[in-house]
Amino acid sequence: MSLAVIILAAGMGKRMKSDIPKVLHPVLGRAMLSYVLDAVLNLSPNRVVVVVGHGAEDVKKVSNSKKLTYVTQSKQLGTGHAANCAMEALKSFKGDILILNGDFPLITGASLKKFVNNHEKKKGDISILTALVEEPYGYGRIKRDQKGKVLGIVEEKDATREERYINEINSGTYCVKSSFLWSALNKVNTKNKQKEYYLTDIVAIAHRDGLNINGVAVSDSDEVMGVNDRLDLSYVESALKWKTNEKLMRSGVTLVDPENTYIAPQVKVGRDTTIYPNTHIYGNSQIGRNCIIGPSSWIEDSKFGNGVTIKSSCCITSAIIKNDVTIGPFAHLRPDAEIMDGAKIGNFVEIKKSKIGRGSKVPHLSYVGDATLGRNVNIGAGTITCNYDGVDKHRTLIEDNVFIGSDTMLVAPIKVGKGATTGAGSTISKDVPSGSLAIGRARQTNINDWKRKTKEKGRNKGK
Ligand code: UD1
Ligand code: CA
Repeated sequence: MSLAVIILAAGMGKRMKSDIPKVLHPVLGRAMLSYVLDAVLNLSPNRVVVVVGHGAEDVKKVSNSKKLTYVTQSKQLGTGHAANCAMEALKSFKGDILILNGDFPLITGASLKKFVNNHEKKKGDISILTALVEEPYGYGRIKRDQKGKVLGIVEEKDATREERYINEINSGTYCVKSSFLWSALNKVNTKNKQKEYYLTDIVAIAHRDGLNINGVAVSDSDEVMGVNDRLDLSYVESALKWKTNEKLMRSGVTLVDPENTYIAPQVKVGRDTTIYPNTHIYGNSQIGRNCIIGPSSWIEDSKFGNGVTIKSSCCITSAIIKNDVTIGPFAHLRPDAEIMDGAKIGNFVEIKKSKIGRGSKVPHLSYVGDATLGRNVNIGAGTITCNYDGVDKHRTLIEDNVFIGSDTMLVAPIKVGKGATTGAGSTISKDVPSGSLAIGRARQTNINDWKRKTKEKGRNKGK
């Protein structure tokens, strides 16, 4: 069966009161629209057309899938008008068209598959994915006759008091025969409270034409929760958080306080890992087994091996951490930090674009940027790689078994050879040969009897 998809994502989301297009608002660190795209691409459709308008250029950046075609709706005249904008792109397509909103991120590929299969099995002209909910406020309601036949959809704003009691809502997801879709959209007008072209009106048109309409309720109504304002956004985020956390806990991960632990659904976490509260793990992150993480850490696009300990309040972005590493508290690992087995990064340490070799230690108050450290290197407290000369960045190379004394300034480009030592408080600007001691600081002078002499001076002045 050939299937095309239209995703409506041109609306500005007035009710969000935002400068950011609604479908780009993140849920657990990811734009709402990317969840919808994932679910759609899961169906392996022949074509996917995304209708963009408000903030189009930013919306297009959400995905680089070659399957997507973008069409622009320059004026947001309603969902019916938006769907019609895809006509030109799908003119030659003959088959079923799945239409859905870009603002319901909890929808899953599995539910969409079930819905499309059902539509095909029942040979429907149009199918509508509905949901039975306790609180239907804000959604379009499904009108049925006494026999349960679908008659149409009425929007909240146009509904009578009785209609507002209907608790079967429209999810904004439809599967429609292409031939019917384009002819029906031509008949949609703006005679409603919002003076918009409603896509929902094609259902009443199908009914008038005596076509085969299917209203199918989704099994988990959370999946079709739409986001119209910031309150909806928080409900959706909370629901997704619980679904994700439940799955993790059932797979052998301890979440000390799941209510306050934020893990994106695509993140992988190994068993016997414990995560403390107020920790956020987002993006393309992967956490191994037997790790201890948090509390209060922010982890994004990072990959951890097994037995990693991340102590309180660390910020880790695009980093790779191998096995049995300890980080923090209060450490900042920036993009391209790579920490090898058994290494230790302590408190108030920042690491950027640097490899820290096996068993090496950067325990306190250091900045390590654009550096490569070999094995078993010890970096003394307060050490800084001076990697930036105001114009260019330069690299620091520290070989195996080097001991860097406290408060060493390593002025890059620089190389410290195997087993070398630098004296505390040194500014090192020339390469250090293997096995040697480098000292680069002013020599200390002691002035004997200083205290007594100054006192005498004072007394003489008083006379
Ligand atoms: C819509 C449905 C409603 C359903 C609800 C499900 C209509 C008229 N109503 O209402 O029955 O219960 O979704 O969540 O369809 N969009 C455009 N261009 C436009 C207008 C909207 O692309 O001109 C896009 C939006 O970006 C959004 C989607 O269409 O992703 C839905 O628009 P929205 O205004 O949120 O519709 P609802 O009022 O939620
Ligand atoms: Ca909506």
